[in-house]
Amino acid sequence: MKAERVILGLESSCDDTAAAVIAGAPGAARILSSVVAGQGELHAEFGGVVPEIAARAHAEKLDICVRQALSQAEMQLSDIDAVAVTAGPGLIGGVLSGVMCAKGIAAGAGLPLIGVNHLAGHALTPRLTDGATYPYLMLLVSGGHCQFLIVRGAQDFTRLGGTLDDAPGEAFDKTARLLALPQPGGPAVEAEAALGDPRRFAFPRPLLDRPGCDFSFSGLKTALLRTRDGVMEGNRLRRRDRADLCAGFQAAVVDVLAEKTRRALAVYLDKAPADPLLAVAGGVAANQAIRAALEEVAEAAGAAFLAPPLALCTDNAAMIAYAGLELLTLGALDDMTLMARPRWPLDQSQAGMLGGGKKGAKA
Ligand code: KG4
Ligand code: ZN
Repeated sequence: MKAERVILGLESSCDDTAAAVIAGAPGAARILSSVVAGQGELHAEFGGVVPEIAARAHAEKLDICVRQALSQAEMQLSDIDAVAVTAGPGLIGGVLSGVMCAKGIAAGAGLPLIGVNHLAGHALTPRLTDGATYPYLMLLVSGGHCQFLIVRGAQDFTRLGGTLDDAPGEAFDKTARLLALPQPGGPAVEAEAALGDPRRFAFPRPLLDRPGCDFSFSGLKTALLRTRDGVMEGNRLRRRDRADLCAGFQAAVVDVLAEKTRRALAVYLDKAPADPLLAVAGGVAANQAIRAALEEVAEAAGAAFLAPPLALCTDNAAMIAYAGLELLTLGALDDMTLMARPRWPLDQSQAGMLGGGKKGAKA
């Protein structure tokens, strides 16, 4: 069997339709193509992702993305060794579209089929981008995910904690909505926060007083709403007030993420990993204040810090193809009975710990 494998990956669990081709071996792979077709404008007027619209758009776009990914990689289906597809967790209609498309390709081209957990795709990205060695600590922070994972292998994850309600990106998006800022809220709130005074409004730091690595972000939104109503004059929110509200909100998120990361790092470092590493993934990792705080926490604990390029931090199919490559190497193949799973906890020992997110419950 040749050492180098070529994998076609498909992703359709939320509002990005994606296909990618990667080649190589575990810890030493390269991206030959990565096509992502966002659906932002389809959902914009609804203020959130509409599952039925998303599923239909995935079904229409998947084969186009696959064709583009193959052509950009200068590959034919006959060059591919396996098809990897997100089989959950996520919006069921979208996941189903991807699984059906992958089954069709696998059956038609006589290729092995590999169902990938979307969260494993995010969690293994540091192996794809930087050849990170196991075990490392991953903080996944996006609009739909929020959890700490000790990553020991493509099928070996320990979840140290996660959100009990909203994901942090969702909190940024809701904050933006309450302050009449554009969506996605993260970048808009960050830009406003840079102009404001983080000390003017005292927002809560949820769950800091409790031990452990769990988060809660929904109370922050209520506090923000109450504070906003206190400073509004009629329907008018002054520029200064809006900036201070954003700065105060962001400072609270930074403090909570930093402290919980400190605790998660302590648990991880207790196992004496050879090359300690804290890695982040997810759209919220784009936030400079959050990134800087996490980097500082890692450095203080004696761990390296890694934030993959943003295009690979957010939803994409290269990470799914890469996870598929590791699973293929482990012999973890699926067949035509592969099912789409709306929920799929990575750490099966903690199946009861579910965190929410705007994209539905995330395992
Ligand atoms: O990973 P992602 O593209 O999609 C998923 O949610 O899976 O993350 C998008 C989320 C949005 O909620 C967005 O507001 C947030 O990441 N985000 C940010 C920033 N850029 C994007 N949050 C805070 N600061 C940012 N600069
Ligand atoms: Zn994701």
